[in-house]
Amino acid sequence: MNMMTELKTEAQFVDQFGRSKRKLRISVTDRCNFKCVYCMPEHPEWMKKHDLLSFEELYQFCDFMVRRGIESIRITGGEPLMRQGVVHFVEQLQDLKKLGLKRISMTTNAHYLKQYATALKQAGLDDLNISLDSLDADQFKQLTQKDLAPVLDGIRAAQDVGLPIKINSVLMNGINDDQILPLARWSVKQKISLRFIEFMPLDGDRKWSSEHVVSEQQILDILATEFEVSSQANHSNQSNSDPARQYFIDGHPIGMISTITHSFCGTCDRVRLTAQGEFYNCLFAPKGLNLKAEIKALTSATPLNEVSLHSALLNYIWHKEHGFHAIEQLLKKQNMDKSSRKISMHMIGG
Ligand code: GTP
Ligand code: 5AD
Ligand code: SF4
Repeated sequence: MNMMTELKTEAQFVDQFGRSKRKLRISVTDRCNFKCVYCMPEHPEWMKKHDLLSFEELYQFCDFMVRRGIESIRITGGEPLMRQGVVHFVEQLQDLKKLGLKRISMTTNAHYLKQYATALKQAGLDDLNISLDSLDADQFKQLTQKDLAPVLDGIRAAQDVGLPIKINSVLMNGINDDQILPLARWSVKQKISLRFIEFMPLDGDRKWSSEHVVSEQQILDILATEFEVSSQANHSNQSNSDPARQYFIDGHPIGMISTITHSFCGTCDRVRLTAQGEFYNCLFAPKGLNLKAEIKALTSATPLNEVSLHSALLNYIWHKEHGFHAIEQLLKKQNMDKSSRKISMHMIGG
């Protein structure tokens, strides 16, 4: 066993259901230039800039986590390209590849991508996930309050520089469910991989209701009116913790991220950090763990600081609930209102 394997097996984070943590999602800002109805509150209270962890502090935290088994880091927001210095952060993270980091990714709304695609590629970004919920310019504007054209330009720019991309489309009943076929046709034509996402109860204004969800089965039924739909045997990709269940339309891959009707929590290997240092063991965790002080202390690099951060995380991660449905049950049992949860998608980054 080499020294790197030894370090990782000795210290990695595992929860009470035996799920090792391999993927870290870092939200670098809660700010966004879009206002997607399924995400951003009508009146957001932005985090104060001086409350955010610096990129140096985030880097130290990533270094700490990679030495404990994290293999993929996804940079999210809000809109990550709105935080100055994010490209340099991607570049810095490359150094962690020698410690076992395999992939550095980003999830973006693509509005600024035309401007940043080349720099991100040069900084060594491995891949990008891009939100695109409508190909109808008017509907896109209603959904996001921004224009569609820069997003399509951003997607093209990413393709031109050779960045692998996946498109995320959140569907909401009666709002953009008419986009299933147009988006599917577009993805086949453009040879871009597309994932439809079931709307999750994480919108900023807590307007989610099950009636707004377009289920995986409804999406498949609509796709079947035009395409030959087949599924990947046993959705075996889910055993390696991909949130998407894989299907094919006329032989072209298409994914379904179906937290509501087919939750994939059983193989969850993800943990998350907000821009101000709140750590979440699950996207739906009612409470995070405030690690701001411990992360700031990492920059002074005394081994004792690492020990206290490690033991706080070990305990919090161990107590991760089974997942979405278990947490819903728990809240019901404790008579807790979901709206008491203060975190929403724009702060935790999906
Ligand atoms: P890769 O599979 O690594 O490409 O990334 P991803 O699909 O996890 O990331 P992305 O940011 O594109 O997220 C796509 C959708 O999946 C978003 O709606 C996320 O909120 C959702 N998602 C990602 N991770 C989880 C998770 O652990 N639990 C649930 N319920 N949803 C998740
Ligand atoms: N439900 C499902 N997906 C969501 N996203 C944002 N809010 C929600 C929600 N309430 C998706 C965005 C983005 C990713 C990070 O999360 O489409 O692609
Ligand atoms: Fe912004 Fe992304 Fe949230 Fe839309 S989903 S409001 S693009 S952070």
